[in-house]
Amino acid sequence: MQISISRKPVEAIDTDALIVPIFEGAREHRFGAGPLFDSGEATGKALDLTLIHHAPEVAARRVLLAGAGKRETVDTAQVRRLAGAALRFLKGKSVKNMVLALENGWATGEFVSAAVEGAILGDYEPDRYKSGEDKGKNVVESFALAAGSDSEDLDAAAARGRLTAEAQNFARALVNEPANRLTPTRIAEAAQQMACDFQLECEILDRDRMSALGMGALLGVTQGSDEPPALIVLHYRPEKPVSQAHLGLVGKGVTFDTGGISIKPADGMEKMKYDMAGGAAVLGAMRALAQLKPRIAVSAYMPCVENMPGGRAQRPGDIVTTMSGKTVEVINTDAEGRLILADTLTYARQQGCTHLVDAATLTGAIVVALGHHRVGLFANDNAMRDRVLHAAEMEGERMWPMPLDEDYLDYLKSPFADLPNVGGRWGGAITAAMFLKAFAGDTPWVHLDIAGTAWLDDGKPFLAKGASGLPVRTLVRLAATWKD
Ligand code: BES
Ligand code: ZN
Ligand code: ZN
Repeated sequence: MQISISRKPVEAIDTDALIVPIFEGAREHRFGAGPLFDSGEATGKALDLTLIHHAPEVAARRVLLAGAGKRETVDTAQVRRLAGAALRFLKGKSVKNMVLALENGWATGEFVSAAVEGAILGDYEPDRYKSGEDKGKNVVESFALAAGSDSEDLDAAAARGRLTAEAQNFARALVNEPANRLTPTRIAEAAQQMACDFQLECEILDRDRMSALGMGALLGVTQGSDEPPALIVLHYRPEKPVSQAHLGLVGKGVTFDTGGISIKPADGMEKMKYDMAGGAAVLGAMRALAQLKPRIAVSAYMPCVENMPGGRAQRPGDIVTTMSGKTVEVINTDAEGRLILADTLTYARQQGCTHLVDAATLTGAIVVALGHHRVGLFANDNAMRDRVLHAAEMEGERMWPMPLDEDYLDYLKSPFADLPNVGGRWGGAITAAMFLKAFAGDTPWVHLDIAGTAWLDDGKPFLAKGASGLPVRTLVRLAATWKD
């Protein structure tokens, strides 16, 4: 899809469809829209869309009135959604070229990036394995933004939006891949290819390296599978660093989670291919950062395993020794994410990361707590928590701070080892995070539980169903705007 900025007056733009934002309680009188407002057909409510053919006084073949909600409350997140919803609507009608008219005040870098992101994210379909005649029938050829005047470099902002959204779609595509096609070995190959395309350093640690490093928790999870594990490591090093900080992004990469011997019920198990969404997000973030070139060192760590039952699988009651030296009693083999992350956090610290963020589809309990609308955010450091919350807020990736009081350790006691891998009945997302905290040590660290937000069971008007690509943009902004 071609992306561009047009400086022509909107009335003069020759295109298949001109997308015009309208607002609640503000009657639009141009393009013959007045009567539609009067009759209540067009409302201005968020994502309410009304198509007008042969609109007067405009060169465009169609005008799409696109509800943006109340004018006072419109932010970049709203514009991102609006662009995505408008593109998806028009694409469904085989429209090939479209132009979004930016409102007064929207011709800024942040709004332009958001609109471009919305279009590119909205354009993505998880139809790779469809072979019917519908596949790829509708292709959007161009999406432009009409901006009257520009004080900022809007072309650069559009380019930033494009590369960020493409990185997010890269992560979504990985998550949507089924587990028979995207094994740990295949993810490692995809990461190497991406690293090569974008000049990142890439290293893959195999089972022997993991053994030599003493990663007993990671090895325990992988031992039930015939698929070999892979710990993907990517490095971005700035030419002129502004900071001594070295940010480590850690992402859970369970290519399929059957639960292992503590096997999951069959109903809905097919979705457990998305148990590598955290890892995919850190790879996506690195893809964007390699192009944005922030002045801070960033490394990504993605432990990839398949959690399977079988004759070699670990058992409930097994005790493993982690790379940190701490021992863990594996009470439930389905609590595998924290086991592989424990060793990976230890490795990232040993490699010199000064700040850590992990993203993981870690617990069903976070879905009970927050539903599908917010990521659960846990931190051992307030400054680090605020950095991530701020980046998330700016990107419209909604998160919510969760507690990590020491009292919760009461729920994490094993008579036989230093820690059990599960707590009791209560506060499951918190005990999972408390477990990870024991491996983050004194390194400022944030844990993002994305089990409820990484996957959309139903599509949204602006996003196809399946992988959402959270929290790629938050990770990108965190690194790209890092200040000591
Ligand atoms: N991958 C799951 C968590 C999950 C649940 C992700 C639902 C996405 C949707 C994780 O490995 C898991 O199974 N966690 C268990 C932990 C329990 C055994 C303490 C859970 O949440 O049930
Ligand atoms: Zn599990
Ligand atoms: Zn899992």
